[in-house]
Amino acid sequence: MPKKLLAISTSPRTKGNSDSALDMLLEAVEGRFAVEKVSLKTTPVSPCRGCGFCEKEGECIQKDAFIPLMEKIASCDVLVLASPVYAMSVCAQAKMLIDRCQALWARKYLLHTAPATPDKRGIFLATAGQTNPAVFEHTSPVARFLFDVAGVKNKNMQYILLDGLDKKTDFSRSKQAQTVVKDAAEELISLMNWDR
Ligand SMILES: Cc1cc2nc3c(=O)[nH]c(=O)nc-3n(C[C@H](O)[C@H](O)[C@H](O)COP(=O)(O)O)c2cc1C
Repeated sequence: MPKKLLAISTSPRTKGNSDSALDMLLEAVEGRFAVEKVSLKTTPVSPCRGCGFCEKEGECIQKDAFIPLMEKIASCDVLVLASPVYAMSVCAQAKMLIDRCQALWARKYLLHTAPATPDKRGIFLATAGQTNPAVFEHTSPVARFLFDVAGVKNKNMQYILLDGLDKKTDFSRSKQAQTVVKDAAEELISLMNWDR
């Protein structure tokens, strides 16, 4: 069985910086994984209602397109989340997705029904307009919540944090940023546990 890589693009800007960087990452690992890319532009996720249903049932009460996506987040071998930095955090689309994963939090921390996934890997890819690596300080911990409830241990995380990319085509013009992405793809392939 090929390893499953689920990539989620959250930017409202198709073929913008984070989406293009994600595509380059997927191209670089082509043939190594069964890849599925989901864009929140075409699979919109509505916000969490805070109803508490998931804390008892481990399921979300809102039966929308998010449900199959959440199960894929739970069951993939590699989870990749791509987001632009908006107001020092992930964009609203990414945040809504993360909030909706409260059912996975409940499975892990309240109901203890989440499976053990010691080899599951995660990549957080973010792009920011400012040229200042500190711009990601408040962004990565928000994304990290998703990876944690999805079963990715801290030691199995990679971060692709690309600052100084503001205009839509800045990533496609930055050889330096492209090298970071290609190196991260090679690192993923080399760090994967292919035996299990
Ligand atoms: C609403 C909005 C808020 C933004 N906030 C920030 C910010 O706080 N810090 C920053 O460095 N860039 C900020 N940016 C710039 C984006 O992070 C940057 O253009 C990014 O590369 C966009 O990625 P995308 O093309 O994948 O959407 C913001 C852009 C928008 C539209």
